[in-house]
Amino acid sequence: MNRSRSEQPAWAGESGQPVLTVEGLHITVAGGRSEAVRDVSFGVRAGEAVGVVGESGSGKTLTCRSLLGVLPPGCAVSAGSARLDGTELTSLTARAWERLRGVQLGAVFQDPASYLNPSLTVGRQLAEPLRVRLGLSRTDAHRRAVELFGSVGLRQPAEIYHRYPHELSGGMLQRVLIAVAVACEPRLLVADEATTALDTVVQAEVLDLLARLRDELGLALLLVTHDLAVVAEVTDRVLVFYAGEIVEDGPTADVVARPAHPYTAALLSVASGGDWHRRELAVIPGRPPEAGADLPGCRFADRCTFAEDRCRTARVPLTTTGDGRRVRCVRAAELAETLARPAAFEEVPA
Ligand SMILES: Nc1ncnc2c1ncn2[C@@H]1O[C@H](COP(=O)(O)OP(=O)(O)OP(=O)(O)O)[C@@H](O)[C@H]1O
Ligand SMILES: [Mg+2]
Repeated sequence: MNRSRSEQPAWAGESGQPVLTVEGLHITVAGGRSEAVRDVSFGVRAGEAVGVVGESGSGKTLTCRSLLGVLPPGCAVSAGSARLDGTELTSLTARAWERLRGVQLGAVFQDPASYLNPSLTVGRQLAEPLRVRLGLSRTDAHRRAVELFGSVGLRQPAEIYHRYPHELSGGMLQRVLIAVAVACEPRLLVADEATTALDTVVQAEVLDLLARLRDELGLALLLVTHDLAVVAEVTDRVLVFYAGEIVEDGPTADVVARPAHPYTAALLSVASGGDWHRRELAVIPGRPPEAGADLPGCRFADRCTFAEDRCRTARVPLTTTGDGRRVRCVRAAELAETLARPAAFEEVPA
């Protein structure tokens, strides 16, 4: 395939192959009637944590679910490719998904209770995949499960093994789910709002745990969150989604310090407002276009302070800017100084 420079993935020139490579991914909903994810391309390397941010409905969860082979009914990948260590995910059979999920691919979601079987002890739910997927004996699977419960910070892991989900707190269940997700040492862990429902202290502990597992196992981590402080603290790169598209991608520290897209700058504006108690994305006046709306120009134009006529006339490509960053804005270069602001994240109180 022949690519122009503007379409070249930002990671293409860097060393080392990504564990996950997503290229030109499109996802349709409502039985193909509208497109909720458009032309999404990115990579995640071993040991790298990539954050995904964007308003509700911007396509973060659909993108994650497509990578796990669990898109909701009526939703489908209509174009593009997603490869995990060279294995094409978009054309896998149900059987191949079963072999991959939980082994090479781990997932942690917001509501751990709904992913665990209420009638089985959590120990059994961890030991079972160890026996089936890794072929461990009953005794070895039990020993390994207790070890894993310990390594995700559950106290008295041998006792936890015999507990049922309803006997554990939300934070404990999230740790159980992380233990299940990493039991077979996956290459990629997808965490979609995994810590949102937890209180701040437990959230920090779970995030530390993910960071540690990333370092120890060389996990590639894809982390969806509404919490900018989490993005700033945990991730190496950040993808900013808007209305089904990536509008900005770059090293987190750079994006946070110098947002290149007006939408990113608007999301970050709450930070410069000094409101550190609500460390969530800023609420931007107006609404994003409908998921399926086929607009001729920039999808953010109607809410953008800087929009000009030319922003509304032609589709805006995601352009590589040369410093490992990509931005989908025709005015990015001329707005760079305007959108730059003090690195307010460094001032986040502990
Ligand atoms: N099962 C579904 N059927 C039809 N449309 C869907 C379905 N799931 C999601 N969508 C649509 O796809 C778009 C993207 O949804 P998605 O859940 O990926 O958003 P999100 O970025 O994860 O939002 P949030 O921050 O609220 O979790 C939305 O417009 C949503 O209405
Ligand atoms: Mg979501």
